[in-house]
Amino acid sequence: MSRQPQNTAGFFIFILMIWMIFPDTERSAETFLLSDLAGERIQRFWTALHVLGDTRWGDFAPTKEQAKWVNLTGFRQEDGLSWGGLDHFRQRSLDFSRYAFSAEGEEQLWDSAEALPVWTNASGTLHGEWHKTDAIAPRSYASHNLSASMPDIHWVGDDAPWARNMTGREGRMVVMLEGNTTDLEYEQLSVDEAPLSGGSVRSIKANVQIEDTHGSHHNWEMRLWGAHWPRKGVVMLTTTSEKFQGLFGLPHLTPGADYFRSSQMLLNETLAHTLKTKERDIYVDPNQPWSSDVDNSMYTKYPYPHCEFVMYGQLQPPTRQSVGLTKPESEREALANMIHAAESELEAPVGAPLGSIPDMQMSAVIYSPDCGFFLETKGPPDFPPGQAHHLLGLKKEIHLQQVKKWLLVFALVVSLQVWLLRRQRVESSTPSTMARVSFSTMGMMLLVDGMTFTAAATWVSSAASTFLPTLVLMFSSFLSMTVGGAFLGNIHDVQLPEGRDRRDRNQQVNGASGANDATADAQPAVAPTGTQQGGAESLLPAPVTAGRPANTVPDPVIVPSDQDIDAEIAEGAAAAPLVGANQQRAEARTPVQSFQSIVGRFILLSLTISFLIISSTTWYPSWRSGFLNALGFIYLSLWVPQIYRNTMRNCRRALKWEFVLGQSVLRLLPLAYFWVKEDNFLYASPEPRAFLVMCTWLWVQIVILAAQDIVGPRFGVPVSWTPDAWDYHPILREDSLEAGGLPIGLVMDDHPGLADSEETKKNHNTRTIDCSICREHLEVPVIKSGNEASGVTGALARRLYMVTPCRHIFHTACLEGWMRFRLQCPICREELPPL
Ligand SMILES: *[C@@H]1O[C@H](CO)[C@@H](O)[C@H](O)[C@H]1NC(C)=O
Ligand SMILES: *[C@@H]1O[C@H](CO)[C@@H](O)[C@H](O)[C@H]1NC(C)=O
Ligand SMILES: *[C@@H]1O[C@H](CO)[C@@H](O)[C@H](O)[C@H]1NC(C)=O
Ligand SMILES: *[C@@H]1O[C@H](CO)[C@@H](O)[C@H](O)[C@H]1NC(C)=O
Ligand SMILES: *[C@@H]1O[C@H](CO)[C@@H](O)[C@H](O)[C@H]1NC(C)=O
Ligand SMILES: [Zn+2]
Ligand SMILES: [Zn+2]
Repeated sequence: MSRQPQNTAGFFIFILMIWMIFPDTERSAETFLLSDLAGERIQRFWTALHVLGDTRWGDFAPTKEQAKWVNLTGFRQEDGLSWGGLDHFRQRSLDFSRYAFSAEGEEQLWDSAEALPVWTNASGTLHGEWHKTDAIAPRSYASHNLSASMPDIHWVGDDAPWARNMTGREGRMVVMLEGNTTDLEYEQLSVDEAPLSGGSVRSIKANVQIEDTHGSHHNWEMRLWGAHWPRKGVVMLTTTSEKFQGLFGLPHLTPGADYFRSSQMLLNETLAHTLKTKERDIYVDPNQPWSSDVDNSMYTKYPYPHCEFVMYGQLQPPTRQSVGLTKPESEREALANMIHAAESELEAPVGAPLGSIPDMQMSAVIYSPDCGFFLETKGPPDFPPGQAHHLLGLKKEIHLQQVKKWLLVFALVVSLQVWLLRRQRVESSTPSTMARVSFSTMGMMLLVDGMTFTAAATWVSSAASTFLPTLVLMFSSFLSMTVGGAFLGNIHDVQLPEGRDRRDRNQQVNGASGANDATADAQPAVAPTGTQQGGAESLLPAPVTAGRPANTVPDPVIVPSDQDIDAEIAEGAAAAPLVGANQQRAEARTPVQSFQSIVGRFILLSLTISFLIISSTTWYPSWRSGFLNALGFIYLSLWVPQIYRNTMRNCRRALKWEFVLGQSVLRLLPLAYFWVKEDNFLYASPEPRAFLVMCTWLWVQIVILAAQDIVGPRFGVPVSWTPDAWDYHPILREDSLEAGGLPIGLVMDDHPGLADSEETKKNHNTRTIDCSICREHLEVPVIKSGNEASGVTGALARRLYMVTPCRHIFHTACLEGWMRFRLQCPICREELPPL
């Protein structure tokens, strides 16, 4: 039974080996074909490039009465795309651009390329919200006949809804822009052919993720390529596929002749360069150039149709306030200088003072000519500035700085965890204190630290500029893992006998073979009892809740039912009084899980969770967020096993408060970053409400732990749910005197050294006795005959003394201190049940 996890692990490795050993024949056969296919596709691209070179501005005019078409796939009449939206697309693009500069009263200046400067280096990650507008009618897959317009390509799934179709009204999007810094400079056209493009263009590509939150619930990811006019802040991008040679037609979709000319020049140059490279590597490079499909960018004979996208982005100029400029005069120069200084400092830091660098902001219009929809980012002027602000993000360099900063903070948090853990280890260094700590609580922490370490160790190899912070994080989580692992190992060793002992007890009680109970469990199970708990109350009240038959003579050898044997017992020091039938137990003893096998199980579990987390990035957003919330919730339930163990063992407090509170806060912090911070570096959408629930849940657990410490570990728990345990804080009653229920010192002389023999309260008597550990007085409230115990104040008063099964009484602090080291009565050396 207990070897199952190893078997499963072995099975996985076996499958993996088979998979690796068997030759991948299909693939090699395909590569041979692929080069043919690649040659054919590249030839097509060359043709398209020539078409692009031969056309002029105005050759593509699908909406004019004399419609003109270009001989590029997707731009021909027979392809039947809904180019009717092209004019609307251009108009919206210009609207967005002009509006972006109108706040400064320079609307007209944008057209003549004299408006405010913008960031010239567009690399960065932006995110924001989009909404769909109804400018054109949506097209269904049935309005295209792909096999008619492209007879030599075999389409798969073209008679079903296409991928990347945005069916919802709105959602989130993330745009990762990756700019090239090599500029192509050119002469602008004259001003009467406005809008002008600024005299410089460079190539750019982008990874765009569009989350269809309310429609198909998919998160579509695609790669777009295009051109960037840095002086104007204009970015035009398009998808390219077998049915849409978007990049080659891109110049025809730009807002004006100047844009057409410059992008045509740029593309002529860069596309030819790429095609030559692809041609040279035709036998080794299976990837199509400019593929829009992120997951599957190889040449394929059987492509799957996706909706195509054309995107127009306008980087917004940083406002004067955001860069700290207030003087109106010579502002354009000042702003330009400031932007230039900031960009060159970011590129090659020399320590120049920068102040705060404003965020990157971009508006975007997305047009799908084949599926027939428009997406626009939410922001002014259609949405009030307070509500939405198009796409916002950080420049790549600043983003990296943030990542580094937060990695260091995370490393610091983990180091603090290590510090707390070490202090707790010192505190729980004896077997009896270690036995109180819940294995599962510690295991949960170790599991998460191990996953942090694995993630950091995986990332560090490709971390580039985040190498050092990642290394620090890796180191601190490694420390946390080793310290936690050693502690867990100790706990396991100490608690190992519990499972054995429980099995033995079960066998004794049931008188049967305990084979069915053979599961080793770190938690104490509810022991089967045959005691008359309640019946004892009247005659021999509270002190002995440990299920002794009511009228027996007080027997010094008490077998507390929660006999979680301490390590000392395991060493064989004093196991004798417990049981007689030793031989039988030895035979029936099944092997207990070794720590190694538990570690193996942990590793398997953490691998499974990691795989699930990684694969969850492709799930429906609602499922993913549900899954991640559930994981977070389970993680933050980490005190539950400890609460359970406290209750079962009747132990008030196992961990230092410093540890409980510190770990709670420290483990909450990383979650807080992703669940609450809007612009976290993973661009995970924040869910403050879920986080609030988690915080509350953690808080409830801490309150329960506190209640266990103050009021008692079994406060509010029905007696029948918990195994019997020795109650160290019994209610002392006068009427149990004759039954011998009162502790020895109190029985001996009936009214010893009466501090106040007069009744101070209606039903209370206080007696004084010497604590034999510290030799100080110990005042014990004794309840008079016939009175009921009072509520919480009584419970608190009982916290001050402790009565052992051998009926000796001590200060709580004294005996607890003693029991950290020995589980024997200081007076009579009798065995004590652990706390
Ligand atoms: C369009 O290009 C194809 C080759 O890609 C060629 O076969 C066809 O004749 C061209 N059509 C026109 C109208 O030029
Ligand atoms: C895209 O989704 C719309 C529904 O919003 C549907 O009517 C249309 O047929 C779909 N288009 C394609 C190409 O699947
Ligand atoms: C698509 O075109 C092909 C060839 O022109 C034709 O055979 C087929 O019936 C068409 N399919 C549809 C759904 O119109
Ligand atoms: C940038 O573009 C130039 C040509 O314009 C090209 O040679 C270079 O490889 C590109 N750099 C990157 C990083 O793409
Ligand atoms: C733009 O950013 C890239 C990488 O972030 C950098 O290599 C390049 O030098 C920057 N160019 C300018 C002009 O700042
Ligand atoms: Zn004392
Ligand atoms: Zn004793």
